[in-house]
Amino acid sequence: MRKPFIAANWKMNKTVPEAEAFLSEFLPEVSNVTDADIVIAPPFTALKTVGEKLKGTNVILAAQNVFYEEKGAYTGEISPSMLLDAGCSYVIIGHSERRQYFNETDEIVNKKIKTALKNGLKVILCIGESLAQRQEGKTNDVLKEQLTNGLKDVDIENIVIAYEPIWAIGTGVTATPEQAEDAHSYIRKEISSIYGNKAEALRILYGGSVTPDNVNDLMTCPDVDGALVGGASLKPDSFSKIVKFKRTGG
Ligand code: 13P
Repeated sequence: MRKPFIAANWKMNKTVPEAEAFLSEFLPEVSNVTDADIVIAPPFTALKTVGEKLKGTNVILAAQNVFYEEKGAYTGEISPSMLLDAGCSYVIIGHSERRQYFNETDEIVNKKIKTALKNGLKVILCIGESLAQRQEGKTNDVLKEQLTNGLKDVDIENIVIAYEPIWAIGTGVTATPEQAEDAHSYIRKEISSIYGNKAEALRILYGGSVTPDNVNDLMTCPDVDGALVGGASLKPDSFSKIVKFKRTGG
């Protein structure tokens, strides 16, 4: 019922020639895939070129970040209209690396989401707990706070949520399917308490050391609707295998 959503977050990787080389291998590999949304988020400098190459394909362009003002004297920042101009449909907002290294608070995340949506971008909102928070039994509290504050006064129609436990990002330690399902079903329950049955259509992605070897098990969880992939999205071979995870049922 919810179309799977498989997204690559390249983070601070790939020059333009490297991005082009990736696409020339990757696009033919996935050209027959029609039953999943396939998304790539390159760094800003490669957006325009990748956007051109994705035109007329089944792969969607996303950015990794956006600013919350629409234009003006904000040296180094990028506006929603610049991302649209480059061909982006989605933008990732609130990634834990931005929260950690660039002090992005839930309030900033909320402002960014509002500006992005207002300008016609769709949003991939990242949330997730640290290892210490999990060990202290605070996972659900953290998720609830990030959801409530990040989505304050926001409609969720054009939002995808990515649950990315910080302890699983880039560590090779993936959440077990049970841990992922616990968090995802909690997120859907919280969303439904605010938005009612719109929660049923919301896609919730898992992110954190997703590989071709663990994607099938994660995707069997009823509330896991896709993946946000870092390291394993950098190679055409491994990312295309993830896109082609084993479908069950239907
Ligand atoms: P890894 O897949 O490298 O763990 O990164 C996950 C992530 O942060 C995607 O946004």
